[in-house]
Amino acid sequence: MKKKLSIILVTLISIVTYAQNTAQYLDNKISLNERVEDALNRMTLEEKVALCHAQSRFSAPGVPRLGISELWMLDGPFGVRQESVWDDWISARQTNDSCIAFPALTCLAATWNPQLASNYGKALGEEFNYRNKNIALGPGINICRTPLNGRNFEYMGEDPYLTSVMCVPYIQGVQKSGVAACVKHYALNNQETNRDFVNVNVSQRALHEIYLPAFKAAVYDGKVWSIMGSYNKYEGQHCCENDYLLNKILKEQWGFDGVVISDWGGTYNTYEAAENGLDLEMGTFANDVKPFTKGIYGKFYLSDPYLKALRDGKVTMEKLNDKVRRLLLLTFRTAMNRNKPFGSFNTPEHLETARQIGEEGIVLLKNENALLPLNLEHLKNIAVIGDNATRTMSDGGGSSGLKVHQEITPLEGLQNKLGGKVNIFYAKGYSEKDDQANKLMIEALEVAKKSDIILFFGGLNKFYHQECEGADRDSYGLPFGQDKLIAELLKVNKNIVFLNISGSAVAMPWANQVPSILQAWYLGSETGNALANILTGDVNPSGKLPISFPYKIEDCGAHSFDKMCYPGDSLNVFYKEDILVGYRWYDTKNIPVQFCFGHGLSYTTFTFGKPIINSNEISSNDTLNISVPIRNNGGREGSEVVQLYIRDLKSTVLRPNKELKSFTKVLLKSGEEKLVSFKIVKEDLQFFDEKSMQFKVEKGAFEASIGSSSIDIRQKIKFNYK
Ligand code: GLC
Repeated sequence: MKKKLSIILVTLISIVTYAQNTAQYLDNKISLNERVEDALNRMTLEEKVALCHAQSRFSAPGVPRLGISELWMLDGPFGVRQESVWDDWISARQTNDSCIAFPALTCLAATWNPQLASNYGKALGEEFNYRNKNIALGPGINICRTPLNGRNFEYMGEDPYLTSVMCVPYIQGVQKSGVAACVKHYALNNQETNRDFVNVNVSQRALHEIYLPAFKAAVYDGKVWSIMGSYNKYEGQHCCENDYLLNKILKEQWGFDGVVISDWGGTYNTYEAAENGLDLEMGTFANDVKPFTKGIYGKFYLSDPYLKALRDGKVTMEKLNDKVRRLLLLTFRTAMNRNKPFGSFNTPEHLETARQIGEEGIVLLKNENALLPLNLEHLKNIAVIGDNATRTMSDGGGSSGLKVHQEITPLEGLQNKLGGKVNIFYAKGYSEKDDQANKLMIEALEVAKKSDIILFFGGLNKFYHQECEGADRDSYGLPFGQDKLIAELLKVNKNIVFLNISGSAVAMPWANQVPSILQAWYLGSETGNALANILTGDVNPSGKLPISFPYKIEDCGAHSFDKMCYPGDSLNVFYKEDILVGYRWYDTKNIPVQFCFGHGLSYTTFTFGKPIINSNEISSNDTLNISVPIRNNGGREGSEVVQLYIRDLKSTVLRPNKELKSFTKVLLKSGEEKLVSFKIVKEDLQFFDEKSMQFKVEKGAFEASIGSSSIDIRQKIKFNYK
């Protein structure tokens, strides 16, 4: 009896103290960390372990006894995925979870507009908040090492600086809503082939100069609250249980105070998961056992086996408490954040944001004979050809796929905008079914013959092996006989505008014969409206490529060595191109490309005046200021992305011919001129020294190249670092 009374008394006291602390916290009298310590000290060992692994496909349990909320998370980077069944991938078939699909992240990167990235994150955070999700499983920021990677469309291109600058405002935008962004996949997840187990072999230079910088920016500048480990291995250890990446770099060197979440099924070993920096185990066995298998969550590596290992003293309480502190902090930042706004879903404002990003991300790659913008005074008949003119894409591609409230296809966008002004004739032209090829080609040639211009919507379509999670592309060329169809169309009508709908580069053997080409990405709910506004000239294109378009795949660095360089075998892949990824490779090796990194045209033109610099040498504490007058000397308002690349002219190690170190997007009225300024500091000149394992800069001559793309350099400035 006495024992019972004392338990009741202790519980009563703890509830009263807890209530007092809550009151204090609610009056912001105690800090988040004090609240964390308070909750930690009340938790039992079992409650601590329960916090570290999933309770369902997309949630973690919290601590019900103490009123600590569950954590709910969902994909994805482009919008709030539909509700799944508790313990399965399949749809819960709800009728209130159709969302807005924002453009894929390669499109966002192609805007080169950090403000749009912030708007993107803000809108996304509001949608996740409205759906009561505490963690948005994105952005993906893996570097595009090969155009064949199945998930390139989820990422921000081939350059670490551009990816860094564009992911930070997205993260901050999402987290403004009290929703955690979850930057992924940390790290070196640059292919889908053998993604679950391939061991990535890469130099420390390439790791620190190419593959880690965006994650570092997400932590340092983005203050990201969670990060997702990747499936692959590094140094023989799965990245979700990788001591060097998670403990040494992420938590100790970078001071990351958030939560490391495993990719779904990326956890393999209790000891490694416990001690090497994983905080929350998700999705283990998800693809190995039937859903709703009894007791499955007890079998997770950070569940009962972890409890046993703790009791046997095989793993440390210190690491468990670190996990719990991070998970409690994340919970107080999100689910239990009393200042969190309510959120909003499927709003006109969000749709506007989606369309603006689409419009600014579309890249005008080529525009001869002034085919664009469409001249509606003269055009009477327009042929719209291609399967991608009518295909909705937002629901494909794997875990980033969305059930959308609406998705305006390219054909619908054109019909909405041009219906009644011109005749629009549609022909599918091609399909994934070979047996239809002839019939479809004949129909396409028919509409082409009677039209003034052809708008060809081609590219990829997020089918398996056509840019989809879990598989890389089989080839660099366009699928389903598009090249042949284009060749036949050119014979009957040369006025072709090719719009490539994809997240990656594709081969364009007909590019010299086709007068106008646009890179149209996956644009989400507002696809057709964004495209129609660009094609008619209501919006002046200002996108720039975040990826290179090599003529052929063999020109690409990752494809210039042997199979072990890409895709490797089922054990290893070796990044033999090292630091020369993307334009760094083509530019340094002097390999011509179809369209280069940073390329994008406008319906107006810009001139770059003579640069003004404050000095032609800097030392470690100096800043080199460079200003360049940019003038719009065309007939209409437009935006130019002024890019600054650095080259070390005299170095003891291999350095790329160009590395993007700054850019500014400037809007100019016709005839207007503005001064665009850049600051160069020591950090912009550094490389990662493998001896000292530090970034360092060597004294000597450098060159700053300022241009409209990585190849279209308008001004060069030499200077010294002393
Ligand atoms: C997937 C993906 C990851 C996604 C997760 C949850 O396998 O790799 O990006 O967030 O599972 O769906």
